[in-house]
Amino acid sequence: MTLLQLTSLRKHYGAVAALDGVGLSVAAGSRTAIVGPSGCGKTTLLRLVAGFDQPDAGSIVFGGRVLVDGAFQVPAHKRGIGIVSQDGCLFPHLTVAQNIGFGMEAERAVKEASAAELMDMVGLDRAMLSRKPDQLSGGQQQRVALARALARKPRLMLLDEPFSALDTGLRAATRKAVTDVLTAAGITTLLVTHDQAEALAFADQVAVMRAGRFAQVGSPREVYSRPVDPATAAFLGEAIVLPAAVAGGRAESPLGVLPVDDAAYRGSAEIMLRPEQISVTGGGGNGVSGTIAEISFCGPTSDVRIALGGTDISIRLDIPSREALAAGDQVTIGVSGKAHLFRQ
Ligand SMILES: Nc1ncnc2c1ncn2[C@@H]1O[C@H](COP(=O)(O)OP(=O)(O)OP(=O)(O)O)[C@@H](O)[C@H]1O
Ligand SMILES: [Mg+2]
Repeated sequence: MTLLQLTSLRKHYGAVAALDGVGLSVAAGSRTAIVGPSGCGKTTLLRLVAGFDQPDAGSIVFGGRVLVDGAFQVPAHKRGIGIVSQDGCLFPHLTVAQNIGFGMEAERAVKEASAAELMDMVGLDRAMLSRKPDQLSGGQQQRVALARALARKPRLMLLDEPFSALDTGLRAATRKAVTDVLTAAGITTLLVTHDQAEALAFADQVAVMRAGRFAQVGSPREVYSRPVDPATAAFLGEAIVLPAAVAGGRAESPLGVLPVDDAAYRGSAEIMLRPEQISVTGGGGNGVSGTIAEISFCGPTSDVRIALGGTDISIRLDIPSREALAAGDQVTIGVSGKAHLFRQ
């Protein structure tokens, strides 16, 4: 069942088209991640859904109810939608407990008990309930903002980069905890992030945004393995894009003849491989030969540029680090799985 339906949303700020015709269907109980570079319109979209701003055109339907259509607009506080904004936005003069209880319609004792439970849910010590926001770290403030949004038991939660102030380890753990809380409560979630790994790990549905539009919407596997164009491919992770002559589901490429994921196409095209499909071994062997033109050590992986034998093409990718490899070494490149074809 569709809980949220966005249709042809447009929003201009002066000459800037922050949103240029955005449509999205969000299933009840699902998790959608919106990814895209800075300035592409992610926050603008969430603000329209929350009701903080009005679109120039388009409609928003939520749970079968029209929230926005033309000049008609349901005010933010009557939408039943929770939002944790990019900057947290806690009330500075209120304690953590008062921030969480703000807007909750309940008696004081009930508010206090649920504030304590919400602190457990978001992984914060109950002892912090009496502190003011400026006595918390940025990451702790973000989690209080999340607890405050959860307190109102929204059917839809909008999260705008809620984990950005956390360091890598805590970020993964908090993301898991928050995902569990939202799933257990059956809350449909829209997460905005510009961290592609976070989006792929979090979501059932990923919407890749570029310059006020969705370039692609699909499952994490679809958008990662079958991106619509090279720019979308590159945004979601490392991509090796090569020219190829394609016919009958096979591509003649600088990495040899490879199977492609489009049996019908015939002609010249670009194909894409992800680095995990490529193996690089020292010396000769089965595969295409190349020479290491550059290599730089980054810990578990090394960033290499390999000049492919008999061509003027080189590929750049991260490979597992090995003592023995150095610039000038001959290597053999093997490919597994199918290459993805970008139709011209
Ligand atoms: N109130 C405003 N007035 C004028 N321009 C605005 C306003 N809000 C946003 N914009 C512009 O609209 C575009 C989209 O902004 P938005 O905040 O939605 O981007 P974003 O994708 O959330 O970026 P980030 O990842 O940096 O948070 C940007 O070019 C921004 O400068
Ligand atoms: Mg933003």
